[in-house]
Amino acid sequence: MYNSKIIGLGHFVPNNVITNKDLSMLMDTSDEWIRERTGIKKRYWAKKGDGNTTSSMGYEAAKKAIIDAGIHKEKIDFIVFATLSPDYYFPGPGVQIQEALGIDNIGALDVRNQCSGFVYALSVADQYIKTGMYKNILVIGSELQSKGIDISTRGRNVSVIFGDGAGAAILSREENLNRGILSSHLHSEGAHALELTAEAPGLGKRWVTDIISDNNPDDLTYRPYMNGKFVFKNAVRRFSEVILESLETHSLSISDIDMLITHQANLRISQFIQKKFNLKDDQVYNNIQNYGNTTAASIPIALSEACEKGKIKPGDYVVLAAFGSGFTWGSVIIKW
Ligand code: UT7
Repeated sequence: MYNSKIIGLGHFVPNNVITNKDLSMLMDTSDEWIRERTGIKKRYWAKKGDGNTTSSMGYEAAKKAIIDAGIHKEKIDFIVFATLSPDYYFPGPGVQIQEALGIDNIGALDVRNQCSGFVYALSVADQYIKTGMYKNILVIGSELQSKGIDISTRGRNVSVIFGDGAGAAILSREENLNRGILSSHLHSEGAHALELTAEAPGLGKRWVTDIISDNNPDDLTYRPYMNGKFVFKNAVRRFSEVILESLETHSLSISDIDMLITHQANLRISQFIQKKFNLKDDQVYNNIQNYGNTTAASIPIALSEACEKGKIKPGDYVVLAAFGSGFTWGSVIIKW
């Protein structure tokens, strides 16, 4: 039995900043509303023709993580890719990374757990390393949200919060069982699946043939739907529970947390958690202000940035926690 530890991180965003003011030219919204309700000041959106896709951004983040890890790419045994915005309905983007990196025929697994995707992906990768099946796994969270959302007043409650980007981690075998990922905790509650959802091009309600014959430019089934207030309430509850669960598993308490990185869903949610647990500013890291909510990419982008800024030191207890569509939620506790 082994543990796994993160030995390299990287992140990437498109070179196109979208401010709240830019959005106010596209829909009836304002910088004031967006900052007050979400904390977001800007986000990055891919531009038509700039070549950015979920897989290409994931590849850019992966290259940085490999350099940061200081390993040769041939040492990577497996890929786990989390996204809700794949380049293709199928196959998932994991195989595109395998091809782009040119690593011969290693396995690639795609995780469909939306905002909890990276936490689920880390947990999956951790299990493979624990059993000794693989030594080094590339874990990616990447999203191209901007081309799927409704950028009009009709879709403003969803579209102003989302951003594009990718983050990646290299997870590697750790022989010291008191270091690296100590445990992961995964949950779901499918009863609320439709509270945060995009129906099309799923085939549960309509077949593709029907969608094509309808040929309706106002077909909202392709657009994400979110019952914002309900999601917000559940996020606060589940984040709290799953953070405590990770600590209690190791007989730790809130004061033991050196760094908490929650999925960057809304700054108000992160601040609510910080206040509830009485965490100091240097025990949490938030960057939604600058990136928006990048769903599966938000935790690896924040983790990569926090490490770049020297905010995480060897020996720190780091807790990652996520909540999102499904509903799904989870946490990972790491002794860095
Ligand atoms: O990442 C996965 C998990 N996601 C989350 O955790 C997100 C959780 N939810 C949220 O963060 C918040 O619900 C939102 C930020 C999405 C929305 O904030 P809210 O305070 O829940 O707003 P609301 O949708 O209830 O709308 C309040 C008012 C409405 O106007 P009326 O009916 O009171 O006149 C909306 O039409 O604000 C209006 N509104 C806006 N106004 C300006 C909604 N969106 C906007 C907007 N700009 N972008």
